[in-house]
Amino acid sequence: MPPRQHNALNVNPDALPMRVAGRYDRVVCASIARAWENVRDWEHLPYLHANSFSQCLLEEEGDWGWRATTKGVGQAADQTSVIEVAIDAKASRYVSRTLEGGLPGVEIWTQLTVLGDRQTRVEVEFHLPHLTELQAAKAGENLLHLYTQLWDEDEAMMIARQEALDARDGRMRIDVALGAINDLRTSLPRLIETESGPVCIREFDSRLVAFPARCPHLKAPLQDLTPDQSGTITCPWHGYKFSITTGQSTDGRGLQLGLMPRVEVDDRGEAMLRW
Ligand code: FES
Ligand SMILES: [Fe+2]
Repeated sequence: MPPRQHNALNVNPDALPMRVAGRYDRVVCASIARAWENVRDWEHLPYLHANSFSQCLLEEEGDWGWRATTKGVGQAADQTSVIEVAIDAKASRYVSRTLEGGLPGVEIWTQLTVLGDRQTRVEVEFHLPHLTELQAAKAGENLLHLYTQLWDEDEAMMIARQEALDARDGRMRIDVALGAINDLRTSLPRLIETESGPVCIREFDSRLVAFPARCPHLKAPLQDLTPDQSGTITCPWHGYKFSITTGQSTDGRGLQLGLMPRVEVDDRGEAMLRW
């Protein structure tokens, strides 16, 4: 099925009685590349933005953008909306349109402007149909609040991802001395920087486990996650699931944590991280 709104060039293609309910303007500490990556990333909505979305099922995506069916949270948990994000890369802007559910016809326009290597200006305009001036003011306030939160969450993800990309972890598997096992146990969970990237060591099921602390998908930090009873962690950015004991995917999406290091203890009670 082709995108229903093929481009981001036309404001209000259905000629609805539209009102600009508000504007949001901020600078994010992220490159334009990270910002576009974020715009195209439909998969993070119910995880990174778990306060605003409980589901996001992709209908279609392409160079033009993406369209998905989403669900809200709380009282809106049963409310389904079809959202389409249409990108006009040349003009450095995109529009997010609600096609069904919620407030059909809503258009949210965003302009991205490069301010520096790691600085992008984000200007958002909320176009809402069928509203009085008073209703528009109220809706604008709510949207301002929502977009501040969404962009705060996005900015944190983009910064963390950039740091992970900048770290350029090597492929060298060099053993790391961890000190006395008794001291190690009292300091868990612990993050260890190694030549091949950060590794998390923690106790699970009365044994020490070690696993790469960056998600193999888009490099989210994994060290602060608490495993469930089966030893599965869920990545906070897009919800991929991994076993911390085997490194295998546990959600059928196929990604693996990578080469799993192990903690070995010698006769003197000294612990070592080995691959
Ligand atoms: S970074 Fe996407 S699931 Fe972890
Ligand atoms: Fe986002």
